[in-house]
Amino acid sequence: MDRQLDQLLSSAGRPALCQSVLPALLGCIADIARTLRTSHTVALAGTANAFGDDQLNVDVAAEKLVRDALAKCPAVVAASSEEDPAERPVRHSRDAGQTAEEASSEQYTVAFDPLDGSSIIAPNWTVGTIVGIWDGASALRQPPAERQVAAVLGVYGPRTTAIVALRVPGAEAACLEVGIGDQDFRFHVIRSRVRFADPPFATRYFAPANLRAAAESPSYMRLITQYVGKKYTLRYSGGLVPDVVHALAKGHGVYVSPVTAASRAKLRRLYELCPIALVVECAGGRAIDPVDGEEILARPLEGCDDRAGLVCGTTDEVDEVKRELLGASLESCR
Ligand SMILES: *[C@@H]1O[C@H](CO)[C@@H](O)[C@H](O)[C@H]1NC(C)=O
Repeated sequence: MDRQLDQLLSSAGRPALCQSVLPALLGCIADIARTLRTSHTVALAGTANAFGDDQLNVDVAAEKLVRDALAKCPAVVAASSEEDPAERPVRHSRDAGQTAEEASSEQYTVAFDPLDGSSIIAPNWTVGTIVGIWDGASALRQPPAERQVAAVLGVYGPRTTAIVALRVPGAEAACLEVGIGDQDFRFHVIRSRVRFADPPFATRYFAPANLRAAAESPSYMRLITQYVGKKYTLRYSGGLVPDVVHALAKGHGVYVSPVTAASRAKLRRLYELCPIALVVECAGGRAIDPVDGEEILARPLEGCDDRAGLVCGTTDEVDEVKRELLGASLESCR
């Protein structure tokens, strides 16, 4: 692995996580990128995942690549994914070496969405992979803010990149951006410290997901109108990963995906929201639930299918959205 990357990760004091699990996942992102580039068609695989969503051939291929990567990591004891959402023990491949250290002290559960953005794959827009890494043998019924110790976002656009966030108890939180080359998995650190910047900003960005909800939510409609009135710049692709990574690349911005009675929560907390929230927090931002304003990482998961909305980005912007959306709903209850 790249020496600088190695150095940045080694400060976490988790050898199996940093020398086995994270490198395996980065290698897997290179593999998924190659699979996407060489899949000339994206088609229904004729199957549906456990949530009833149709699966694409590329979803199935990405799922298999992540599972194969995890099978090589002895420290990963359990895994589940959006395509197969039940936590199960990981069967390790025979060539998975195991050091005494790994066997004794590090055990992880991995939760992943192998390919996020199915609806925008066919037009060849940027899509992503989302991975959360949890301490211990399960991600469920644990305090996410402490137990989810790392997250990786793979970004498949014209370039392949990854955002790696690490927040291990006792070590400083880190968030970095890695470039992934086509040839033999060359990684190099593009930015060793991904951080949201401080205002003022010449341009302000907003990503209004679930925009249809504005038709039945006066407060969301008002928020959008305010962004337009204040001359914010729209940056929204419909892919959760590229939309959040846009803000990380620019150093500011806000992503809003509200929930209304008719437009229900659809983002999965385990496979999408928790890893995204860790990345955003490690970059100095905030990620909250638009229904109650609570931090995404505040509440333990009850099951693999828990869902919610999302507001994330710089702290100032997220607080403003919270005031707009929740302030109004409190008034209407009076
Ligand atoms: C999709 O876009 C990538 C670059 O982003 C390009 O290399 C690839 O050829 C495109 N594939 C198709 C089928 O258009």
